[in-house]
Amino acid sequence: MEARDSVGTIAVIGLGTMGTGIAEVVARHGFAVRAIDIDDATVSDARQRIEASTDRAVARDKLTVSERSEILDRILFTTNLQECLTSDIVIEAVPENLELKRQVLGQLDGLLPDRVIWCTNTSSLSVTEISTAVSQPSRVVGLHFFNPAPVQDFVEIVRTVVTDDEVVEQIRVFAEQIGKQAVICEDKAGFIANSLLFGYLNHAASMFEQKYASREDIDAAMRLGCGLPMGPLALLDLIGLDTSYQILDTMYRQGRDRLHAPSPILKHMVTAGLKGRKSGRGFYTYAEPGSPEIVADDHVAKRDASDVSVRGVNAVGVVGSGTMATGIIEVFAKVHHRNHGFG
Ligand code: CAA
Repeated sequence: MEARDSVGTIAVIGLGTMGTGIAEVVARHGFAVRAIDIDDATVSDARQRIEASTDRAVARDKLTVSERSEILDRILFTTNLQECLTSDIVIEAVPENLELKRQVLGQLDGLLPDRVIWCTNTSSLSVTEISTAVSQPSRVVGLHFFNPAPVQDFVEIVRTVVTDDEVVEQIRVFAEQIGKQAVICEDKAGFIANSLLFGYLNHAASMFEQKYASREDIDAAMRLGCGLPMGPLALLDLIGLDTSYQILDTMYRQGRDRLHAPSPILKHMVTAGLKGRKSGRGFYTYAEPGSPEIVADDHVAKRDASDVSVRGVNAVGVVGSGTMATGIIEVFAKVHHRNHGFG
């Protein structure tokens, strides 16, 4: 893909899970990126993750070797905040802490061209409160990505009462250019998706804590029973338990909705360093930090059926004739057909 020189550069500040994914997707769509974090190890980790992700894309014939190197060439990984001074768009993706976000934006205020658009990837904090850290709050907008950012083709654009319409429109066009479908929402805690999602995720964590069912069974219920791509505990691990706790805590403080009062287990796990996939352990244990591969651990649901004798089933009676009964009859008829053929 051609580099989009005319648009200038996009700075992504904060290279955690989300910032790294955002830097990758923006570079993949032809923009020059300044990928910035204050911590050397975090910057080098982000580089490695983007290299590995684009490597995988080459192996799966999704990118050519030269496209991959063009993408990597477009990203300047740095710890120097000054590198973002010529950017047209700044995307702040530092941890979910209001003071930290305000501090990052405030530090850059007045140093960037007037045309700059400030985006915050906050998941739940008030964009309005973040926006007052700069002298032009009308040029601040929420641009909320979903994890994994390179995969989820959706963003929420959050406007405050003072955001310029022109800024919202420019960011809508930018979202389209990086392959994301955008919705525009008001500055309300959790915006649309998190507001709906996190009550459910929190409930799943509480069910696990109360030993309602095993982690595998809770996840299977939603994955297989409800057709979601992953179960809630695996999703909490993907999002990060620290991030999830912060989102719930912020939403609870703002709305006082009991559904969002963080389940105590989340706090305990985060305090113990179990942050989910990124730390190698959360509700599940992973092959290594950042790996999606779940490995066996002490909590695997024990199902030793060796002592139980199971009688063969020859016939099943289904009582009822509604949607469910008809579906159940169909399931058994298919098994019978597979085992015995017609008749
Ligand atoms: N980073 C980059 N790419 C990734 C990735 C990651 N972490 N995980 C998977 N992918 C890519 C794979 O490389 C693969 O790409 P190709 O098709 O180009 O080869 C593709 O995604 C599919 O991956 P897999 O085949 O390995 O696995 P899958 O089909 O099970 O999909 C998933 C994995 C995309 C994570 C899917 O399970 C899913 O969509 N889960 C739900 C995620 C979700 O709900 N996200 C929103 C969370 S809420 C949020 O983010 C908001 C917030 O504020 C916290």
